[in-house]
Amino acid sequence: MLRALTSALRLPSPRRPLEARGCAANLAAANREIQVCALAGPDQGITEILMNRPSARNALGNVFVSELLEALAQLREDRQVRVLIFRSGVKGVFCAGADLKEREQMSEAEVGVFVQRLRGLMNEIAAFPAPTIAAMDGFALGGGLELALACDLRVAASSAVMGLTETTRGLLPGAGGTQRLPRCLGVALAKELIFTGRRLSGAQAQALGLVNHAVAQNEEGNAAYHRARALAQEILPQAPIAVRLGKVAIDRGTEVRGFWVGTWAPLKSVGRLGGGAFMANRWTAQLERPRELDSSNRL
Ligand code: COA
Repeated sequence: MLRALTSALRLPSPRRPLEARGCAANLAAANREIQVCALAGPDQGITEILMNRPSARNALGNVFVSELLEALAQLREDRQVRVLIFRSGVKGVFCAGADLKEREQMSEAEVGVFVQRLRGLMNEIAAFPAPTIAAMDGFALGGGLELALACDLRVAASSAVMGLTETTRGLLPGAGGTQRLPRCLGVALAKELIFTGRRLSGAQAQALGLVNHAVAQNEEGNAAYHRARALAQEILPQAPIAVRLGKVAIDRGTEVRGFWVGTWAPLKSVGRLGGGAFMANRWTAQLERPRELDSSNRL
């Protein structure tokens, strides 16, 4: 708790803010998969993380994850960031989840390390000291929805499509989805969605409470982004430390159980495509042989 409070109240760091802070100055970063844009004028205080990997529909690959972690590490020290918006530069897609092509090339051990990294990324997003908003203007599948779930608020286009679809591929939502979805929707509904791998439209997601707002899509395909920005503008005038502490208090209050289940060792191994056989055999065996967790939550 003390660490979270310290982080929420942290004084400005001597570290230099990100190189390309203004959107116009961001040309140097144009080839990066993750771009950071600090808005100016009346929107000063709103910073955007633009996910820009069109060739893989913003799939969470190694480079993408590294750049995202790097951006978060710098932004979390920057007290000028009052609200952080995650948006996509790829029309029709928020994030296509884990990079399945990269994953296919990995050994089982490498998959374990990568899933751990993804989980760390989602935890970094969740622990970001200022409010975060996911602007979901298109598909948010698997890890893409897990990323949005790690944000404080979610806004979607009514036509967006989202779901923890991992079970349809013999995988598990291993980057926090099994923990955050039930906290968001309740256990029974979360189980139904994860067991079935069901996809929801933005409008359906709003009816369930999975997203805060759903808006009709516009021609540019960025209606959710505009709604997210309006939401950020509503937060902007409020006392920044009170807002940050409000976030800490709510997050700590809802963390009545740790996230250890999501870091359960067998889950790390169920990473490769075609994990169906693995699930049917070793996973069942693990469940039948409960063992003690050690201090690092490993079996
Ligand atoms: N990992 C790696 N590459 C991915 C990807 C992923 N999760 N999702 C999409 N891509 C790649 C495709 O392989 C394709 O690459 P190619 O041009 O080299 O063939 C490119 O992105 C475009 O994909 P495409 O399916 O043609 O785009 P689309 O706009 O028609 O559809 C999606 C977008 C997101 C609906 C679709 O790509 C999709 O369903 N992706 C998989 C989502 C998923 O199952 N995620 C994991 C959940 S466990």
